[in-house]
Parts: sequence; C-alpha cells; structure tokens
Amino acid sequence: MLIKKPTDIASSEVTPKQLYVNRRKFLVGAAVAGAAAATGLSLRRIASPPTVAEAKAKIDNVRKSSFSTSETITPFKDVTNYNNYYEFSTDKYEPAGLAKDFKTRPWAVTIEGLVKNKQTLDVDSIIKLAAPEERIYRHRCVEGWSIVVPWIGFPLSVLINKAEPLTKAKFVEFTTIYDPKQMPGQKVAVLEWPYVEGLRMDEAMHPLALLCFGMYGEVLANQDGAPLRIVIPWKYGFKSAKAIVKIRFTDKQPVNTWNKAAPSEYGFYSNVNPNVDHPRWSQARERRLGEFSKRPTLMFNGYAEQVASLYAGMDLRKDF
Ligand code: MTE
Repeated sequence: MLIKKPTDIASSEVTPKQLYVNRRKFLVGAAVAGAAAATGLSLRRIASPPTVAEAKAKIDNVRKSSFSTSETITPFKDVTNYNNYYEFSTDKYEPAGLAKDFKTRPWAVTIEGLVKNKQTLDVDSIIKLAAPEERIYRHRCVEGWSIVVPWIGFPLSVLINKAEPLTKAKFVEFTTIYDPKQMPGQKVAVLEWPYVEGLRMDEAMHPLALLCFGMYGEVLANQDGAPLRIVIPWKYGFKSAKAIVKIRFTDKQPVNTWNKAAPSEYGFYSNVNPNVDHPRWSQARERRLGEFSKRPTLMFNGYAEQVASLYAGMDLRKDF
C-alpha cells in the first residue's frame, strides 16, 4: 500500500513496480496526489485535506474497555480524511469523498468453509451479538504512519464462536465487497479484487482482535470500513480488512491480497516489528498523524505482553 510514503523516498522507489505503473494510470488528473507524489510531503499537510465527515448515528451504551491505551487520540478529522482504501482510490485523501454515498445497508455477511453453522447474516444481526465496547487502539500502517482511534465493536471471537468452526479449521479468511459501480478503485487492476485478508485461528480468537462497526462514539465512517471491518492492533494496518462480506474458515493459510501483490514485501503475519525492516525502508520509527517528529515503533505495536506468546518459537524474520 505504499502509495504515499516516508517523506524522503520517491514514489517509484517505495511502490512495487507493477503497482506503481498501474497507479500512474490511477492518478491521472488527481492534482493533490500528484503534488504530494512530486514533493514527498504526504505525511505533512500540503494543504488542508477536504474535511468530509458525514454525521453518523451515535452508538449508545458503549462500555469502556480495559484494553484501551491512554495515549492521545488522533483527531477524527485526520482519521477520516487520510485513509488507505484502494477500492476507492490510491490517494489517501480521496476515500473520504468517494465513499460518501457508499451503500452500507442492506449488507449481508456470508460465513462458510469449515464451520458447523454455515450461514448468511445481516450485518445488523451481527452487530447485536454482543454489547458494544470502545477500544482505543494504536493502529500502525506498514508505510510508517500511525493513529490512535477509539474503535467500537466487540471481540471477533464472539462471531467465530457463533459460527462454530470445525477443529480442522486453522485459519480465517476475510473478503471485502466487490462492487466496482460503487468503488471506482476496483475498475483498476491496481490490486487483485476483492481484497482478501486472513488470520490464524488463534490470532482471530485473541481477545484483542476486534470486530468493528463504530468509531468516536458513532457508526463507522464509510472510508474507515463501514459497515463492518476487523481491527487487529498488533499487526500492520493492511491486515485490518474493511467492508467485509465473507468470512471463510479453512485449513490452509489464506493468500492475502498484499502478499499476492508483493510477496517479498508484505507477509501473511505482518506483525508490527521494528526489528524487521521492509525491504525498502526501516520499520524502526513511525509518525503519528498530526505530529511532526517520529517516535520509536514498538514490538507488536506495544501489545507484546498480550500477543507475543502466539508466536513463541517462530522466526519472525522468516514469518514476517
Ligand atoms: N481494507 C480494504 N478493503 N481495502 C484497503 O485498501 N487498506 C488497509 C486496511 N484495510 C484496505 C483495507 C490498510 S493498508 C490500512 S493502513 C488500513 O485499512 C487503514 O485503515 P484506516 O483508513 O481506517 O486508517
């Protein structure tokens, strides 16, 4: 997802060649993106971003989670105006506007594969499965920027338990909606559509893995993945698939979209790891949106105490 990049690297250096070439087609006429690519100023403000923040319905009776960080929350306007959402655009400033009228109802989620209860559920029935919790999580993009967001949702394990996976199921695959009429980015083969992500079953069942439908006290903004996404805070942001329509349980490791696009750059695990650099840049530091200086990136994005045991005995350079 290296379209905007650390300030000192040219776009052609950080983006896999094929993606870069496709992206050039994508950016024709996108003046803001063009200016950002040319100047490398994407992480600073080259101009005020368009503030498209549609008023969304409030979510009531949200309880606070003990898993929340007490770090300063990133302003809503930054989190909703600087997005990686390639189904809409490769330009981070564009999903806010392009997703404005995206239809999030009716919305069905199919549960299939190695489960006892194969079924198709309406998103509103999924949302009612458990009481909503606010989880203030650090969210670190593989490109080197990070945000702190009060997400609303409940543990992904709630939905998985309802599906009753068979013991043979070792992985869960998440597929995003394919709807090029609504999602202009899907008309371009910049990635293979639909967007697919996956987790090992024990990762998906971990209490920190969140099934998310809200943020900042409201229903999730379209550009942040409405109506339903996952948030896996100890992994790079691309693992947190948005606009999910299918959840498949499998005995084989899913092939995630970014791994398929650039296997030497984006692994299946993609745990935040300051000690394992991306082949073309360091992962040791990150820039919080809205801040100027960088801060050190923490192992497992600061969630090592909770999740390190999931990877005991694994070589995290090999399984990056
Ligand atoms: N999900 C879908 N369907 N499409 C995407 O392009 N981008 C990923 C992830 N989920 C992406 C996606 C990446 S690269 C990141 S960093 C996060 O979403 C960004 O989430 P945010 O825009 O809510 O900050």
